[in-house]
Amino acid sequence: MLSQDHLIQAAFISMVETECTLDVQAIRKHFPAITKGRIVTNNAASTQPPRKLSELFHQLSPDYENVHRGQSNASKAMTHLFEESYDTIADFIGAPSRRNIALYRNTTEAHNAIMYSMMTEFRDGDNVVLTMMEHNSNYVPWYAMSREILPKFGVNVEYRIVNFDPETGELDMAHMASLIDKRTKLVAAIGASNFFGTKNPVSKIRELTNASGYEQPNGERRSYFLLDGAQLVPSTYVDVSALDVDFLSFSFHKILAPFGVGVLYGKEHLLETMRPFLYGGDMVGNNQVSAEHVGYNELPWKYSAGTPNILGAIVSAQAFRVLLDLALNPERDEYFMTGKKIERAAVREAMDRVTSYTRSLTKRAIEQASSIPGIRIYGPKDSAKRTSLIAFNVDGRDPMGLADALNEFGVESRAGCHCAGLAHRNLDIPASCRLSFYIYNTVEEVDTALHILDKIVRENIHAKTPSLSGGALATS
Ligand SMILES: Cc1ncc(COP(=O)(O)O)c(C=O)c1O
Repeated sequence: MLSQDHLIQAAFISMVETECTLDVQAIRKHFPAITKGRIVTNNAASTQPPRKLSELFHQLSPDYENVHRGQSNASKAMTHLFEESYDTIADFIGAPSRRNIALYRNTTEAHNAIMYSMMTEFRDGDNVVLTMMEHNSNYVPWYAMSREILPKFGVNVEYRIVNFDPETGELDMAHMASLIDKRTKLVAAIGASNFFGTKNPVSKIRELTNASGYEQPNGERRSYFLLDGAQLVPSTYVDVSALDVDFLSFSFHKILAPFGVGVLYGKEHLLETMRPFLYGGDMVGNNQVSAEHVGYNELPWKYSAGTPNILGAIVSAQAFRVLLDLALNPERDEYFMTGKKIERAAVREAMDRVTSYTRSLTKRAIEQASSIPGIRIYGPKDSAKRTSLIAFNVDGRDPMGLADALNEFGVESRAGCHCAGLAHRNLDIPASCRLSFYIYNTVEEVDTALHILDKIVRENIHAKTPSLSGGALATS
């Protein structure tokens, strides 16, 4: 499909631009989907699990047992691994300890958890500030709280939405500054947009929230800051202590792990005082349940009601360790299942390599796409300002049809509004098509994907078997 010249040029670019960042050929051997020949360029939805993480489920079988609910050696061994996974997660994101970590099913559930936990603290006249580029998971819960739940209790809370520049896909920070005031209890903002790709200015947002003057019930005078890290954590160095965010959410299925585990980081003093989101077993303290009073368990188990996703948590935490190994030395298991302490310097080096490599893929994709007739690529032109995805539309073509046609040539993409419903409506487009890259993609794959897109557009090729799911009207 590609000319010899094209391939040589792509290989050269691969060597030059990605030198010293990631050993992609070694990384690729770890992924069954890649060795099978798939061009997996829908990584903003979910990444692929490496073989060793899928195998870990089976390796855990001999000690299969519940945690915190048995005295057998198997239960003790499983409890140890489960609790250790909280330490790994805390270390990777720079949290002080496991006490800062709550595990949920995904980012969406983490956002709902904060909303329900914090709901009773909102006072009549308070507001929440969000952005027009939020994923539905960080808009709809605040919408529901403000419009449907709190008004039933006579509490009126407003949500305010920060605009973006439609040309650059960057947040209008002056607008954000004008919306945050001394009644802003919380600012909930996306770290990197899953549609524009824009990486938002986290420290500037922190400055604004610190200066709001909102009086929290514990006497702090500032607005809380929830950072949606679903698209940030997979490919960017994130240190919650340095960023000083109050809450961070992300999903492990976008960071090499299988489906089912999401993280909510929270500052310890906030998790200590907030109400739990879910109530029941294990989140209560020993001998602290009576007909008159219930006392909650210590952190982090206060936020772990009922039997947790034990294997999911263990395997997900190991995904961080695999990511470190793949970025630093894909031939060795220095971190995977070794219990080795995760130092900040190692995370920094690994994630800087990931950022640099995936950024070079995005830069290449933007360059290649820009010569396609009638294409509009959303978000910043500069790959340094964005994460590793491009969303686009082509004049006269239904994005779902483009994605179907790409699929028929073996290129995996996603069309829809990517749950960025507010941004799509604001731009007055029903949907867009998106290609997104991760550590196992090569420059050659990016070139192939864009070359095929170019061919589909220029030759007006349509899918032989279009999806049945509603074309451009697909909503998520
Ligand atoms: C920025 C962002 N936030 C939140 C989510 C929701 O993640 P999940 O579906 O794992 O809850 C996504 C998923 O695409 C996302 O990209």
